[in-house]
Amino acid sequence: MSASEPKKPTSRILGTAFEVPRTVISNDALAQVMDTSHEWIEKRSGICERRYVDDSEGSLPLAERAALKALEQAGLEVSDIDLLLFSTLSPDVDFPGNSALLQERLGMVGIPAMDIRNQCSGFVYGLSVADLYVSSGGAKNVLLVGAEVHSSGLEFSDRGRGVAALFGDGAGASVIGPADGDHGLLEITLGAEGRFADKLYTVGSGHQRKPRIDMDVAPPESGYMFPIMNGRYVFKHAVERMIESIRVVLERRGLTAADLSILIPHQANLRINQFVAQELELREDQVVNNIQKYGNTTAATIPILLTETLAAGKVEAGDLVCIVAFGAGFTWGAALYRW
Ligand code: UT7
Repeated sequence: MSASEPKKPTSRILGTAFEVPRTVISNDALAQVMDTSHEWIEKRSGICERRYVDDSEGSLPLAERAALKALEQAGLEVSDIDLLLFSTLSPDVDFPGNSALLQERLGMVGIPAMDIRNQCSGFVYGLSVADLYVSSGGAKNVLLVGAEVHSSGLEFSDRGRGVAALFGDGAGASVIGPADGDHGLLEITLGAEGRFADKLYTVGSGHQRKPRIDMDVAPPESGYMFPIMNGRYVFKHAVERMIESIRVVLERRGLTAADLSILIPHQANLRINQFVAQELELREDQVVNNIQKYGNTTAATIPILLTETLAAGKVEAGDLVCIVAFGAGFTWGAALYRW
């Protein structure tokens, strides 16, 4: 291979699947507990409904079912996995991380289990870690899960409406293994800018307090336990960083947005994705969205949308697929695949 020849892929997604809770929450249902309306939420975000776990569900059962389905898709057994990665901002317990808890549920005894805390970019960050393990020989097959339960941490009141209307629960999983010739991950880019951490964050459940949870300081009615977001600020940066990341991975291969078969963007707001598509001059059939049904499921969003896109027959072998995400931190990333 000459020095100028592009690097061949070393990893690819072998199987992918998702699980969402049974309970569908419409915009009208939210309008019964806060000052909002179906019209406002749909117009400003694209969301029509989302799913919430009930008392018998949690992110781990969802993640477990998604993982088993992804393994089946990949034609692999639990014992074929040698690294488990779990992306979430809403772990079942403070510690240990969800990766250890899922490892136990799946009976993946002894393999390394790692948590990734990168919010809406968590799955793209996970893809990068998985690719590095597979390409270095550190693992052959990696299970990457993204799962979130937001519904237990939203503020269902007029004060919380700007955030509560946007998020939903769900889980997705992908199995990443060795590339097959030219089919696999071509490029990946990641970024972060911590100076914007306070544009989307939760302060009240942090560990900087002594005692950690002091109900005199942060009672639920203070709002400190719930996410705080500067929506307009996050929106603007999401558009800019997603466009930039897509261009970075395409340019590394001498490609342009016109070469893309499908863009699989994070689902935070339909209008964010419309701006991205408009700026890159993408046709409607080059971009997929499902925020209408699930809202923003953070680390679970990409595998849920990827699975639905594959199931709909929208991706064929050889297609150029770009995955892009942006989230709290701020963090962002894009991955370019030859399917
Ligand atoms: O993955 C990263 C995570 N998050 C994001 O990327 C989110 C990015 N931001 C957004 O999606 C949008 O900024 C929002 C959907 C959050 C808000 O849309 P917006 O067009 O930026 O509205 P805004 O925040 O400027 O609010 C406009 C008005 C305000 O009322 P006033 O001050 O004009 O009287 C808000 O209080 O809309 C009000 N509002 C609502 N009204 C009804 C905010 N939330 C709601 C609501 N229902 N749920």
